[in-house]
Amino acid sequence: MADLWRTGRRNIPGMSTPPNPTASNSEWWRNGVVYQIYPRSFADGNGDGTGDVMGIRARLDHLVQLGIDAIWISPWYPSPLLDGGYDVANYRDIAPRFGSLDDARALIADAHAAGIRIIIDLVPNHTSWDHEWFVAARNAAPGSPERHRYMIRPGRGTNGELPPNNWTAVFGGSAWTRLPDGEWYLHLFDSSQPDLDWTNTEVRQEFVDILRFWIDLGVDGFRVDVAHGLVKDPALPDLAATEGILESALVENHPHWDRDGVHEIIREWRAVLDAEQAARGRDLMMVAEAWVHPASLPKYLRPDEYHQSFNFDFLQCEWDAGLMRAAVDRALAGAEAVGSTATWALSNHDVVRHATRYGLPPETDWRAWLLDGPHEVLDAALGLRRARAAALLLLALPGSTYLYQGEELGLPEVYDLPVDVLDDPVWENSRHTRKGRDGCRVPIPWTVGGSSFGFGTDGAWLPQPARFGSLSVEAQTGDVDSTLELHRRAIALRRSHWVGAGPLEWSSKFSREEEQVLCFRRGEAICIVNFGDEPVAVPAGTVMLTSEPLTADGRLLGPAAAWITAG
Ligand code: NOJ
Repeated sequence: MADLWRTGRRNIPGMSTPPNPTASNSEWWRNGVVYQIYPRSFADGNGDGTGDVMGIRARLDHLVQLGIDAIWISPWYPSPLLDGGYDVANYRDIAPRFGSLDDARALIADAHAAGIRIIIDLVPNHTSWDHEWFVAARNAAPGSPERHRYMIRPGRGTNGELPPNNWTAVFGGSAWTRLPDGEWYLHLFDSSQPDLDWTNTEVRQEFVDILRFWIDLGVDGFRVDVAHGLVKDPALPDLAATEGILESALVENHPHWDRDGVHEIIREWRAVLDAEQAARGRDLMMVAEAWVHPASLPKYLRPDEYHQSFNFDFLQCEWDAGLMRAAVDRALAGAEAVGSTATWALSNHDVVRHATRYGLPPETDWRAWLLDGPHEVLDAALGLRRARAAALLLLALPGSTYLYQGEELGLPEVYDLPVDVLDDPVWENSRHTRKGRDGCRVPIPWTVGGSSFGFGTDGAWLPQPARFGSLSVEAQTGDVDSTLELHRRAIALRRSHWVGAGPLEWSSKFSREEEQVLCFRRGEAICIVNFGDEPVAVPAGTVMLTSEPLTADGRLLGPAAAWITAG
């Protein structure tokens, strides 16, 4: 891997040696670029049609050349995959379909040698129903210690035939399922994902041990799933009707989202990470997936809680200068108030890819659009153009950026997957009214040809469209106009011009939200984004990078972005 490092980064100004991922207290996460790998769909090393750890190792050179700082790997644990691995059957192993613990050790060693850190997904809100604890709970009697590890309760009604309350699951339907003996278990997601009872000290101790297990194996951090959901109101009150289950996270004093009790758990984990970091001399971090009210988010980022938290504003924000500026200001102010740094993301494995979202008319409900269409309203070229501009916006902002695999290729959502291949529980649980999230999980194209465009040697678990060949890493490498080369250059320039460049100052001269233009400066570096489609003048200086060529008279024709060094 040392060779890969040299090959990949030799042109980066001021970077003659790889950053040392074992250095302590570097706080690298404050401005890192983190690349999310959805392991099923990244690279298939053994030719069974499913991505795996061997595949990730074999493709590390791509990540080195991209110039990222860390990889976040979505769950790789043994799992029946009823929710793509977020249904964990054993927290201390790797799923055989993805490889073994030895493969994980080898990946971590290779990544570290290349200067890349590894963050893994921790799923503490629920286990799989195949987890030995839940198997024991099912077989045990009501009131037994085995049952007390989960949220298992008697039902309402004369014979307990009604669920304990009216809560609904995020994926649709009741959040309660009845056990054969008549008690009910809570699952905020799929019925295959029973919620743990976080008032139980055994549960708390178990997750402390799991953290230590993976730290011991060499990982550098944790992305914590449903970080805002662990603690429930013990009275389990009914919920008033809300718009949708995730929107309900915005309701105050909600009985299962964002309760004060979660902070005590977070502080316990943070103490573990801090102690392990001090003892091992290796940076450790944790990042929260917390869908909470923006005003509540900073609480998760206090100095003894999460190092950082995802900020989902850009995942939901339309392509609009005013809305995006407001999202930037909100995130910067929130993080600053508690001494943390902002995070930015445009896509992940749960949402329609932004190259497609940005090609849809404003206010399209893109989750419904996947199934209901009309699909002809999609302007894919416009979506890609906006996505390229958005990449330059994100990579110039203070804080860290999370990239979802394939976004560096400008991959679109595969909205036309045939319904008989759909795997996401959302499809069944919504009674076929929502296609779900498979369209952003289609395996990555590496080569122009081949049975799965280089993903593996024998097909892919979800069908890839023919257009994927021309979007492959092979097709884009060396093409200076490609989205991949744009990302490679942007991430390299980010290191030399944006990291440590200081606070963001909006330019009142160039930012005109009513004309859909945003412009900010950080030190000597300037970023201008033209959200509209009229050409605009760019600030004086040397143009470092543009998402589209400037016009003959040096203006920026939107949608597009440019980076400039003042001079
Ligand atoms: C959030 C994850 O990102 C999503 O993929 C999963 O379905 C839910 N949490 C439940 O674990």
